[in-house]
Amino acid sequence: MVEFALPANSRVQPGTFHPAPSGATNVKRFKIYRYDPDAEGNPRLDTYEVDLDTCGPMVLDALIKIKNEMDSTLTFRRSCREGICGSCSMNIDGTNTLACLKPIADIPGDVKIYPLPHMPVIKDLVPDLSLPYAQLQSVEPWLQTKSPTPPDSERLQSPEEREALDGLWECILCFCCQTGCPSYWWNGERYLGPAILLQAARWIHDSRDEFTGERLDALEDPFKLYRCHTIMNCTSTCPKGLNPAKAIGSIKEMLLQRRF
Ligand code: SF4
Ligand code: SF4
Ligand code: FES
Repeated sequence: MVEFALPANSRVQPGTFHPAPSGATNVKRFKIYRYDPDAEGNPRLDTYEVDLDTCGPMVLDALIKIKNEMDSTLTFRRSCREGICGSCSMNIDGTNTLACLKPIADIPGDVKIYPLPHMPVIKDLVPDLSLPYAQLQSVEPWLQTKSPTPPDSERLQSPEEREALDGLWECILCFCCQTGCPSYWWNGERYLGPAILLQAARWIHDSRDEFTGERLDALEDPFKLYRCHTIMNCTSTCPKGLNPAKAIGSIKEMLLQRRF
């Protein structure tokens, strides 16, 4: 997996040290980015010594243990604990990934945890995702049709038409790819980014959708789509094993084909 430069790392100050409970013999250190909008001394890196003998196997288990037993002020998003909701995305050991799918045992040395890079931070490990969600809304990620709804059946697809959506429908909108994309770092206001373009591709390739032309028209823009330079960080970092760069390439190919 690709390693990313960490956000504002040089400004991070040493924070509070939370030692392991006495008698713990299997201790791992977690160094966690802290940012409190209502306090001074931001940002800082707090250190927590966790007893792995009384902790679940994933990084999210350690974060929950820290919050429950050591420091209730630590703030992070999570919901499903199964890699389904996309809430617990963060930068762990230099890579954007899901805390609930990242085994602690895979990380040598101290576990360093930062929020997703290059996004404004609301608190600790919680980034402000307002911009990518607004961009998601702009691609209208729902089925759009012109023909009347069939009176007694659903809009059907052949198995082959359904297969065309594999690799697209599985996206959980964790934004690991979006915040790992250098083009999005530099042009986030105008470039839609890999997660949003994969969502756009999901509807462009849906045989039931009847707004393909309009969707392609909306993306034919030097910034919204063509800021992707096929650097592939997005594909390297996706914790669901998806390939946003390929999805973006498929949109570019459709735009090219309709010119001839
Ligand atoms: S392939 Fe495109 S979207 Fe993916 S990281 Fe590179 S520039 Fe960003
Ligand atoms: S493509 Fe992968 S990394 Fe990007 S938002 Fe979807 S699941 Fe997350
Ligand atoms: S908690 Fe839902 S994906 Fe990690």
